[in-house]
Amino acid sequence: MQDLVRRYYFLFLLMATLGIFVSATGVSAQDAKQPWMNKSLSPAERADMVLQQLTLDEKLALLHGNGMGHEAKWHMPLTPLTNGGAGYVEGVERLGIPGLVISDAAYGVRDSGANGRYSTAMPSNLGAASAWDTQSACEYGEVIGRELRAQGFNMTLGGGVNLARELRNGRTFEYAGEDPLLAGTLVGNMIKCEQAQHVVGDIKHYVMNDQETGRFVVNAIISKRAMQESDLLAFHIGIDIANPGAVMCSYNRINGDFGCANTYTLHDVLKRDWGFPGLVISDWGGTHSTVKASAAGLDQEQPMADFFGPKLKEAVEAGKVSVSEIDDHARRVLYAEFLSGVVDDPPQKGVVDAAKGLEVAQRVEEKSIVLLKNSQAVLPIDPSKVHSIAIIGGHADVGMISGGGSAQVDPPGGNAIMPPGKGATHWQDHIWFPTSPLKALRAKLPNTKIEFDPGADLQLAADLAKNSDLVIVFAYQWLAEDMDLPSLSLPDNQDALIEQVAAANPNTIVVLETGTAVTMPWLDKVAGVVEAWYAGSAGHKALANVLVGDVNPTGKLAITFPKSENDLPRPAIAPLPKEDQGLPSGNSAKHISTYAIHYDEGPEVGYKWYEEQHKQPLFPFGSGLSYTTYAYSGLSVDSTAKTVAFTVKNTGKRAGTEIAEVYAKLPKGTDEPFKRLAGWKRVTLAPGESQTVTVTIDPRVLQTFNEANNRWNLAPGDYAVFVGSSSESTPLIGSLTLR
Ligand code: BGC
Repeated sequence: MQDLVRRYYFLFLLMATLGIFVSATGVSAQDAKQPWMNKSLSPAERADMVLQQLTLDEKLALLHGNGMGHEAKWHMPLTPLTNGGAGYVEGVERLGIPGLVISDAAYGVRDSGANGRYSTAMPSNLGAASAWDTQSACEYGEVIGRELRAQGFNMTLGGGVNLARELRNGRTFEYAGEDPLLAGTLVGNMIKCEQAQHVVGDIKHYVMNDQETGRFVVNAIISKRAMQESDLLAFHIGIDIANPGAVMCSYNRINGDFGCANTYTLHDVLKRDWGFPGLVISDWGGTHSTVKASAAGLDQEQPMADFFGPKLKEAVEAGKVSVSEIDDHARRVLYAEFLSGVVDDPPQKGVVDAAKGLEVAQRVEEKSIVLLKNSQAVLPIDPSKVHSIAIIGGHADVGMISGGGSAQVDPPGGNAIMPPGKGATHWQDHIWFPTSPLKALRAKLPNTKIEFDPGADLQLAADLAKNSDLVIVFAYQWLAEDMDLPSLSLPDNQDALIEQVAAANPNTIVVLETGTAVTMPWLDKVAGVVEAWYAGSAGHKALANVLVGDVNPTGKLAITFPKSENDLPRPAIAPLPKEDQGLPSGNSAKHISTYAIHYDEGPEVGYKWYEEQHKQPLFPFGSGLSYTTYAYSGLSVDSTAKTVAFTVKNTGKRAGTEIAEVYAKLPKGTDEPFKRLAGWKRVTLAPGESQTVTVTIDPRVLQTFNEANNRWNLAPGDYAVFVGSSSESTPLIGSLTLR
């Protein structure tokens, strides 16, 4: 009998050790030892329990990075644990809290090349925003989340939602356009689904990081009201949807203080007013102080420990930073880990599902391509009439261009325009993916003669154009972090190429591979314009499907294309003063930069600006054509429910999906009369089919912010409501009355 008891006792111990014994109360032995491992508790409860167990050193270890993979200047003893990524934060092994293994992942996982791995490149973030599709945004996030985990990462640095205030900003392609509702909604859905894969989600760069020139020093000057109603609103909407574990504060200053030491944006708005429970992580090298940054609400310095390492400990010991402030920082890191599931479900390295990634990348790009011009229905290509096609320029024989900087995804096989063996990538290299539109089009049109000319010699290109039924010029514009464009003109003499080719053959279509808007001095001379953005790993196939009509384009611009830089709020980006040039990062005690940018346009970003200035853009926000046509009718407004209903009819001969847009204007007498996007719906219709759809007006875009009492105000009165196919084409007009 004693033997039996002893045997059961040992069995019990074994099961308890393995954590598989569950008592009648449902609490496992593991839970009893580490009660924070009980998944039925909330992330906040679990974080609190862990916090109780931590020594000061363990808390402090959660508050800084330990170097950056592949970056010699940011090397620390624990750098090898970055897994080749952007950063590593120690966990608390004895309590089962994993370290944060962090990677950039704007449109795909960064640095896979140097790590001997593969990642899918989704279309650029701005491109994908043109789909106006929360489902696509979600699938986009899922692919990246899965690939991060397969590569051993448990935290992403994707999620850029800075508004396109400055179209020449080198990072425009990483963001989701100019409208706070559209950008916030799409980025929010992307992060939500990415974090659902069990990686800590991140939204960035908080806030007003709207140009790259002087990004480490620039002081963005804007009223609180304007900021609340524009850039901050985009973040708030995104955070509400995604509940991301982390917010990355930006390099720049905002009304004087750095983004990572800014009491107003971090403490007052993000943490106090919005109640954000996660952690604020600094942009890389964006921390410049210890006591000030900590008090303002920075929780974690990256990628080093210059200010939140030994100096933070000293500050605690000297009583300059309280232990409760440290507790708050540490709790937020732990909370993000529990919230995202990285404690319960750490990543398992494996082979990424490349086929699935390519499938999603193609589908998203098919929804992202925007048909800007299509005279005489030159598209889709009809092979019964078009027997020869000239493909010109843009390295279309070998691939399509991508966006650079920390967003860069490495192309399989290296840069398609570099000789073999020179495939290594630098973050400022111009990288073409091996996704040849020429090959994709030949595969789609096997009986059509399709020839290629690189476009280097304008006369040779024009000669080929002249002898072809149809011409497609591929034009590119490269963008990357840490640079801004001098202008919105196509680089490398491409305007002249297009002019000359179109003069030789007016049946010319221009395919744009751009990260932001471009000016088009040749627009009247070409028959078609297709905006393909940075098209991602399967962009060539998506593009070929659109060009031949297997896919009917649905994308609508998430940014306004201006006629000229003179129509922008600032005709040029002010250059960085000489004394600031070449500074490695930020201000120092010896040097406080005077470089500032005044965002005097306030909340009038993009289409709102053009309306207020009575300027006609080249292509308005929300515009994009289809191979079919749609008609709008029958608007009714329900003021109580804040909904509008209307009918969309497909009046053409092809099935298609129309993005129906709803705008609203504040009541007469209010001081912000411009139209603002208030909702939208994607409507899929067979030829001749009608559908009545209901769109809920988002009250957040109707509110104005009162600086004096720090409150939002929804003014009573009559709001004009506009419904249609773009910000400029709104055939239906009604009125919403709020009491
Ligand atoms: C960028 C961030 C990026 C970080 C880590 C910084 O230069 O601004 O967007 O996440 O580097 O690579």
